[in-house]
Amino acid sequence: MKKRAAYIGLGSNLGNRKQFLRTAVNNLEEVEDISSIQVSRLYETDPMGYLDQGQFLNLAVRIETTLSAHELLQVCQAEENKAERQRTIKDGPRTLDLDLLFVEGETVDEPDLSVPHPEMFNRGFVILPLLDLKMKKELKTQIKKGLAKIPHKKSFGSNYHIEGVWVEGELNLKEPAKLQIVKTRAELSKLTDGLREESKKIGFVPTMGALHKGHLSLIEQSILENDVTVISIFVNPLQFNKEKDLETYPNDLDRDIEVLECFFESSLILFIPSYDEMYPMDEVRAPLFESHLFEILEGEKRPGHLEGVCHAVSALFSIVGKCRAYFGEKDWQQLLVVSELVQTKNFPVEIVRCKTVREENGLAISSRNILLKDIEVALEVSKALFLGKDLIQNGETNVEKIVKEMKQALSKASEIEYLEIRDENTLMPVTKIGKEIVSPVRILIAAKVGEVRLIDNIPANTISVNKTPENNVSR
Ligand code: PAJ
Repeated sequence: MKKRAAYIGLGSNLGNRKQFLRTAVNNLEEVEDISSIQVSRLYETDPMGYLDQGQFLNLAVRIETTLSAHELLQVCQAEENKAERQRTIKDGPRTLDLDLLFVEGETVDEPDLSVPHPEMFNRGFVILPLLDLKMKKELKTQIKKGLAKIPHKKSFGSNYHIEGVWVEGELNLKEPAKLQIVKTRAELSKLTDGLREESKKIGFVPTMGALHKGHLSLIEQSILENDVTVISIFVNPLQFNKEKDLETYPNDLDRDIEVLECFFESSLILFIPSYDEMYPMDEVRAPLFESHLFEILEGEKRPGHLEGVCHAVSALFSIVGKCRAYFGEKDWQQLLVVSELVQTKNFPVEIVRCKTVREENGLAISSRNILLKDIEVALEVSKALFLGKDLIQNGETNVEKIVKEMKQALSKASEIEYLEIRDENTLMPVTKIGKEIVSPVRILIAAKVGEVRLIDNIPANTISVNKTPENNVSR
């Protein structure tokens, strides 16, 4: 028989769902007469029929094969048996489900097999993955017609919740990241020294865990630019100036590890030191260097915070050694302080700046966002920043006026700690925004929304007129 395309839908909602799907696809690849396997993205979907069960992970594959529809059915059933699928409840939970959906040029209508699958154009969890696959125009048109008929189609097959990882192309069935977990400084230094001896490039992403899309964008960039990426998770007590903030800081290491494993086929080292490992000589600490940045904005509002960040980052840089280190613009002042740390202490580290990742509604992503009770009020913070930027880009040069308008855009529900337009390199105040002089400006804001302190900033991408050093009134 001639080779033709066939499509199979796969689903799982019991046990290690990803693993069942991964194994099934790998096994399909091993079947003689099956080749050119193409795998859709992975979708998480609500159960149908019997509702008292967990969500499914679904995907679809396109294969090329000489096997008949009946033979393919046997292949599918064999896979389900390997996963020890039980059939006690109709439409009930299952380790693995393989549905033969469509075989080019073949129609079967028998009690044990119908091809095309009679429901294939009616179900979101089939249609959405199928649309990721290569197919003839006629079939695509039919599927799209089906999609149009599905009510609330957005609630079907929403992407798996770690966005930007599972949904990236066909990554989903590759091997999970090679993740090495290291707890001691000696072990990590030995590893990174060894990697450098093999001329491997090392990227480093320091974090305090509770990984979210902001962190993931840093890790993703590091993976792209280096051979191995070290990620540290250490909730650094030295940078918390309020005990309650430290106590309520979210942490879930198991989830973080699961998230990291989704960086398929990359080499990652996760460093999770204890306090004693980070700070073997627990002593009263003086700031590592002097900087006006410790005195202004975050430095003023959170005394000791930035100095504490420097202690952690300095310890980490000493352990990791020569590397590129990735920091988010979300914490702009931290980024500047860390750059000064590298310069003054001569660390062999290149700091890479990464853009702030926002929710679709504009809110800058932060580990603290889950503590927010009033999202609408929180949104005012980023909205005010966008307003300030718009005003500047439309030619407004009067700093006071811009700040006033921005403050008016913030309701009384949020308590502003600072709202400033500053030279983005020195964080010194600017008097007037104009085309004449030196460096770009950045608008920075810190505000409390309920109990949650939010910080955010935005480049306004224009040129500022700096105050002279004598004029630098920072408080
Ligand atoms: P943490 O808040 O976990 O952030 C780790 C890194 O992720 C920082 O570089 C931060 O700027 C970046 N980041 C956070 N939210 C982001 C977003 N929405 N978009 C882009 N990047 C984002 O910052 C710290 O930890 C600590 O101070 C640390 C540097 C680890 C020192 O303890």
